Amino acid sequence: MRNLDDNTITDAVIERVSGAPEPRTREICEALVRHLHAFCKEIRPTQQEWRQGINFLTRVGAMCSSTRQEFVLLSDILGVSMLVDAINHAAGGAQTETTVLGPFYVENAPEKALGSFIAEGLEGQPMLVEGSVSDYAGNPVAGAIVDVWHSDDEGFYDVQGEGGLADLTGRARFHADANGNFWFRSIVPRFYPIPYDGPVGDMLQAQRRHPYRPAHVHFMIAAPGFDTLVTHLFIGGSPYLDSDVVFGVKRELVVGLEPQPGGKTARGNTIDVDMQALRYDFVLAPV
Ligand code: BEZ
Ligand code: FE
Repeated sequence: MRNLDDNTITDAVIERVSGAPEPRTREICEALVRHLHAFCKEIRPTQQEWRQGINFLTRVGAMCSSTRQEFVLLSDILGVSMLVDAINHAAGGAQTETTVLGPFYVENAPEKALGSFIAEGLEGQPMLVEGSVSDYAGNPVAGAIVDVWHSDDEGFYDVQGEGGLADLTGRARFHADANGNFWFRSIVPRFYPIPYDGPVGDMLQAQRRHPYRPAHVHFMIAAPGFDTLVTHLFIGGSPYLDSDVVFGVKRELVVGLEPQPGGKTARGNTIDVDMQALRYDFVLAPV
């Protein structure tokens, strides 16, 4: 254990961490050392580059607060959030495809009655959302809790405004009805840049990447006995569908807006003005 060099140090460190008694901890620590050492052996950083890397991670940590999670953004732009999502949700099953949660979810959003307008104080093109929630067999999931949130028509979330958590709009929590159906009214959201005024933005700039996500509406759907579904519906035709900065777009989640004249809607609800309708039937996986 003395005079270790670049050929021998990796095994020495792995041997040291292999004393961790908890098997999963041991597995993770060993893999961390193996891959981190392989990374350094590949890039052969100078001392100055290594310090720069540590300074970068220090800035990422310092940027984090109760309303800003720069490490999550870092994981998102490096595709790691979607990789972990893919590892945990096999594609191609009957359940609705999943995507990233993102940093703008708020726990305990205001509960609203079905049909409510959720974009108080916002201007934009009127949007109608009509959805259903069912299980693999097509049985309705009555009473499913449906959390929704989206950006305004300038591409900002409520929590990014001065009022922060005190000024929520463009989000709500609904309970699906006895047939698993839900609906609400809002405004059509716009594509937007993820927060890029911190170290993650600097990394995007260094990589000559744009910071944009295509327009979308977030959904989190929960019901007892089912895996909580975290997903979005992406608005067909939005810019950036093919270059989402966080790699979150899936073909199955891109939905066209359909013009819906005022009056009785395609799903039997009643609206008073013409709207752009977003419709989707969500399928939950059993736990
Ligand atoms: C979002 O869709 O809200 C989001 C996702 C990842 C990073 C930033 C924002
Ligand atoms: Fe979003």
